[in-house]
Amino acid sequence: MLCDVSVLITGGAGYIGAHIVRLLRERGDDVVVVDDLSSGDPARLGDTPLVTFDLAAADAVDRLRATIERYSVESIIHLAARKQVGESVAHPAMYFRDNIGSLANVVEACALAGVTRLVYSSSAAVYGIPSGAPVTEDAATEPINPYGETKLVGEWLVRDAAPAHGLRSVTLRYFNVAGAGWDDLGDPNVQNLVTIAIDRTVRGLAPVVFGDSFDTPDGTGVRDYVHVMDLAEAHLASLDALDALGAAGGPADATVYNVGTGQGASVREVLASLAGASGEAFDPIVDPPRPGDPPSVVADASRIAADLGWRSSRTLDEMVVSAWRAHEWRSRTPA
Ligand code: WQD
Repeated sequence: MLCDVSVLITGGAGYIGAHIVRLLRERGDDVVVVDDLSSGDPARLGDTPLVTFDLAAADAVDRLRATIERYSVESIIHLAARKQVGESVAHPAMYFRDNIGSLANVVEACALAGVTRLVYSSSAAVYGIPSGAPVTEDAATEPINPYGETKLVGEWLVRDAAPAHGLRSVTLRYFNVAGAGWDDLGDPNVQNLVTIAIDRTVRGLAPVVFGDSFDTPDGTGVRDYVHVMDLAEAHLASLDALDALGAAGGPADATVYNVGTGQGASVREVLASLAGASGEAFDPIVDPPRPGDPPSVVADASRIAADLGWRSSRTLDEMVVSAWRAHEWRSRTPA
């Protein structure tokens, strides 16, 4: 079957991946998704081709090569990974096997199939407990959990693939992602502040604040919350930059960018935004801080702005309101 050139997105049936797929399809790109559906939802993809297999499996390189060939793939966005910090602490071997193994298979398939453009999903978790704010890409990378370690080792692998295989790459270090670009693409995982607070609100429970004595303006933890649509747009900007470079030839390189707003927001600020979105104002419960929780993690996102012209454009309130609307849509829509 003759196809236009496609972008292959691993993990494209996931919360973030589905936003990238929809943006690419809306602008006319052809996309093929590889996803094992261990946490992804095919309903998010509409008529986008989906190939389902485990990227860490022994036959993954062959199946990736076949998919690359069938869909005339020239660039890959690799999102597929396990990403629960607590689970990674309990099951480090599974995280290294799956997160590093799947990426290694993607890199090997690229080398064998002649794919030279890769966008790699990394995380602010590679910084561990950064000193001061905002964090630049040159800050020390000292992850404090196996999840963050696998993301950092993945960056090393992608970097090594440049001279070895001519693989040009952009690595994106996500900060705290939330919100929804469409009501049907909300984050169903109740694992991070916004979705946990929404879940508790709809159940009539007060949200919980993990520590209010940090050295921050209001004592609660500060993070850089970036709207998932802004994050998805950063992937399109990265792809376009690689496509331009790819056509020019020349030595491959591996560039790393923070993807954040550059503005911090405290837990209390996020909860105040949610109270406005939901119309429900709870006095939060204050619990002790989580072990190892950094007081503040905020991006310096000036490098991606300078190189790719990408900047976040959506506000904290837009992010929280969109997350709330998506949750309401999901509760109205039968599974
Ligand atoms: C945010 C803030 C908590 C829940 C994680 C992982 C990693 C990365 C980003 C992908 C902190 C506070 C939270 C609650 C609270 N994602 N909090 N009450 O820990 O910054 O980072 O997400 O790479 O998965 O590093 O995110 O949402 O858990 O916490 O007070 O019920 O909210 O202490 O200050 P975190 P988070």
